[in-house]
Amino acid sequence: MKEILQHIRTKLGSYYTTGEVTALSRILATELLEIKESTYFLKDPVSLTHEQQQQLDKALERLQEHTPIQHILGYENFSGLRFKVNSNVLIPRPETQELVAWIESEANGKERILDIGTGSGCIAISLASRLPHSTVEAWDISPEALAVAQENSRINNTRVIFNQRDILTYCPTNEQFDIIVSNPPYIKEEEKEAMEANVLQWEPHLALFVPDNDPLLFYRTIAKKAITMLVPGGSIYFEINRAYGKETCEMLAELGYSNIELRKDFADNDRMVRAVLRVI
Ligand SMILES: C[S@@+](CC[C@H](N)C(=O)[O-])C[C@H]1O[C@@H](n2cnc3c(N)ncnc32)[C@H](O)[C@@H]1O
Repeated sequence: MKEILQHIRTKLGSYYTTGEVTALSRILATELLEIKESTYFLKDPVSLTHEQQQQLDKALERLQEHTPIQHILGYENFSGLRFKVNSNVLIPRPETQELVAWIESEANGKERILDIGTGSGCIAISLASRLPHSTVEAWDISPEALAVAQENSRINNTRVIFNQRDILTYCPTNEQFDIIVSNPPYIKEEEKEAMEANVLQWEPHLALFVPDNDPLLFYRTIAKKAITMLVPGGSIYFEINRAYGKETCEMLAELGYSNIELRKDFADNDRMVRAVLRVI
């Protein structure tokens, strides 16, 4: 094990920080090579097959090109489930798990739930799995993302209704939901320069960016449409750009929502908001 870890450090040391190399080493050992966690931590002796050695070298080459480790593995673990990922979907982020946990903690388990901008389906599928008596629907503008989400729903044995919809042009009908959740695109174009190469090169820009002059575009659009799409007393949950917590809450208050709460993520950044549609 020691030699394998040394080999990984030599190959990745000039491309990643020490902390990143440590994190990648663990994933390469335990996920890609399927070495037991105890062997990895105790640095017990292991011998790799020729095939495993080739797999590792190929992965190290791709990591040197900044391919995300999740694309090399083909999946990401999220909320205790496994999600297939490719370049058509955003890789599910750990902070989004906190949003799922928040919704689960406030749900009675029988809601009609809508996830807008579902991507890999990580929010919708996790909720369908944790709240099996709820009805879950998920929308995305991207047919390629919806194909991945559908596959993830099948892999995780959940029932989710998927629809291709552009939320910016969608006209609400008489569909009614108890909960609407969204983690929409929220990075301003001007933030691009500060972003890591592996995000910019490998993740779909459709999932990431909003115009610089209207960072709340998706939040305002969804919150306005949700006034007719939610039942009275229904809730809206957003994952947000950490720089816009206050503005998002103010916008929701102006639209008449109540019980507005802003929460931080594990890294202490403003990251999610919940608001309730007033009962008139
Ligand atoms: C930040 S990603 C979130 C993906 C996933 N929900 C998650 O939390 O990992 C935003 C998603 O919104 C979708 N999207 C972008 N514009 C949209 C639009 N106008 N209508 C519906 N979905 C849209 C993108 O295709 C992408 O899948």
